[in-house]
Amino acid sequence: MRILVLHGPNLNLLGQREPGIYGHLSLDAINEALQSLAVELGGTLNIFQSNSEGALVDAIQGAIGACDGILINPAAYTHTSVALRDALAAVSIPFVEVHLSNIHRRESFRHHSYLAPLAVGQICGFGLDSYLLGLRALFNQIKIPHH
Ligand code: DQA
Repeated sequence: MRILVLHGPNLNLLGQREPGIYGHLSLDAINEALQSLAVELGGTLNIFQSNSEGALVDAIQGAIGACDGILINPAAYTHTSVALRDALAAVSIPFVEVHLSNIHRRESFRHHSYLAPLAVGQICGFGLDSYLLGLRALFNQIKIPHH
């Protein structure tokens, strides 16, 4: 099982960035935890972070024929990006959307996701666990698809 893990804008600053909201873990620490879980589940990860919307679109397009699933924290592009939504629709690879914070109890502009209607599911509010739960759910979904 090959999974593309995508981290959107400003997530490279995790650890220093608004730790009261996003916690003290660095992106490297999150990626290490994901790698360990992938080994346990018997899969391989291709991990990519970008602050640029176009680079994320290119990474999604690059997953065609190369990845079985996508785990994505689109960060601020969650709330703005028709381009990311269209890229995910175009490749039709199952994906899970994750967020460290609970976007539904924050500012109202964070309540809407352009991606969520196309996702297998969305997990938010659990910090690192959002990613780990999302990866597990994605693996299970690909192994035993429900739709
Ligand atoms: C985030 C939530 C977004 O609203 C925000 O723009 C982020 C991070 C999260 O992981 O909680 O950058 O996706």
